[in-house]
Amino acid sequence: KKKIAVMTSGGDSPGMNAVVRAVVRMAHHMDCDAYCVYEGYEGLVQGGNLIRKMPWDAVRGWLSEGGTLIGTARCLAFYERPGRLKAAKNMIINGIDALIICGGDGSLTGADKFRDEWPGLLKELVDAKELDAKDIEPYKHLNIVGLVGSIDNDMSGTDATIGCYSALARICEMVDYIEATASSHSRAFVIEVMGRHCGWLALMAGVATGADFVFIPEKPWGDNWQQEMCDLVEKHRNLGKRKTIVIIAEGAIDRNSNKITPVMVHDLLADKQGLALDTRITTLGHVQRGGTAVAYDRMLATLQGVEAVKAVLEATPETPTCFIAINENKITRVPLMEAVKETKEVATAIKAQDFNKAMGLRDTEFTD
Ligand code: F6P
Repeated sequence: KKKIAVMTSGGDSPGMNAVVRAVVRMAHHMDCDAYCVYEGYEGLVQGGNLIRKMPWDAVRGWLSEGGTLIGTARCLAFYERPGRLKAAKNMIINGIDALIICGGDGSLTGADKFRDEWPGLLKELVDAKELDAKDIEPYKHLNIVGLVGSIDNDMSGTDATIGCYSALARICEMVDYIEATASSHSRAFVIEVMGRHCGWLALMAGVATGADFVFIPEKPWGDNWQQEMCDLVEKHRNLGKRKTIVIIAEGAIDRNSNKITPVMVHDLLADKQGLALDTRITTLGHVQRGGTAVAYDRMLATLQGVEAVKAVLEATPETPTCFIAINENKITRVPLMEAVKETKEVATAIKAQDFNKAMGLRDTEFTD
C-alpha cells in the first residue's frame, strides 16, 4: 500500500484542516495509508509520535475548524542538511513515499529542495550506516505536491490561496462593526490589514466595504498622496458622508518605497489645520487569520486536497514538483518553481519601483 503523508507549514490559514481532512479521506478512498506530520517540518525532523497514521474517522469534524489542528512551526533545523537527513530517515522508517504540504511559497520551496536532494540524502544515510541499502530500495523517488495555504493571496499561478477569502470576510465583518461606531460619532478610522507584501486583502476589502481610500504595495498613490487622500476624503464628506474609512495594507509604501504607516495617515486626517477629523487607528491583527473557514475555502481546500492525492499518485520522477491551483474556477496543477519565480519577480519589481510590472505579474483580479 502506498503511504501518503500530509502536513501544514508556515502561518496557519483557515481551510488547512479541510485540506488535511480531504487528503486523509481521499488517500483511504484510493486504498492508500494516510499519515499526518504534526508541527510542520519540525515533525518530519523529529519523527516519533509527530508522524501519525490517520484512520478515516480521525479527521471527523475538521472541515470547518480554524487554524491547523496538526500544528505548524518555523523549523530552523530543516533549513540545514543534517535536519533534512533526519527528515528523510524518518520518512523511510515510516514507509512514507509521498508528501503533500499545505503552506506558503517559502514552505513549498523547501519541499522542492528536499525532493531534489532526496537521492543524495538516501545515499548519505546508507553510507553512514543509518539505513540499509535494501531499506531505501522502494523509496528511490519522492513525490511531493503543494497546496498554497495563506491568507495573503500572494502566490502567482493561482487565483486564490486557501484562507484568503475567509480573512477577507473577517476583515469586511470588522469594518462593518467599525463603520457603525464611526458613523455615530462622524469619525475617521484608519484600518491596517495583513497581507505581508501583498495588497490583495486591502484592495478587496476596500472594494467590498466601499472604503474612502486604500493603500497597497503594488500600486502606490503618487508623490502627492497626502493631498490626494485629503481631497478625496473632503469630497466624500461634502457629499454628506458621516464616516471615513482608510484601509492600509501592512506592506503599503509610497512611490519612493517609503513605508506608509497608519500613524502617518491618522495625523493627516486629524490635522487641525486641515480636515481636523476625530480619527482612530485599528490594527485588525490576527483576528484576520483565525476562526472558521468560509464556504469558499472549505470547498477550495476539499477539491484541491482530492486533486493533490491524485497528483502524487500520478507523478513520475520526471514530473516537476507541482502545486494545486485554481484558475478561472478550474482546479489545476501548476509547476511550483515557475510560480515561485514569478512571485519573487513581483517583490523585485516593487523594490525597483516598477509598479506597473508588479501589477501585471500579480493576480488577474488586480488589473485595472
Ligand atoms: O502570511 C500570513 C501573515 O498573517 C501575514 O499577513 C502577516 O504579515 C504575517 O503572517 C504575520 O506573521 P506572525 O503570525 O508570525 O506574526
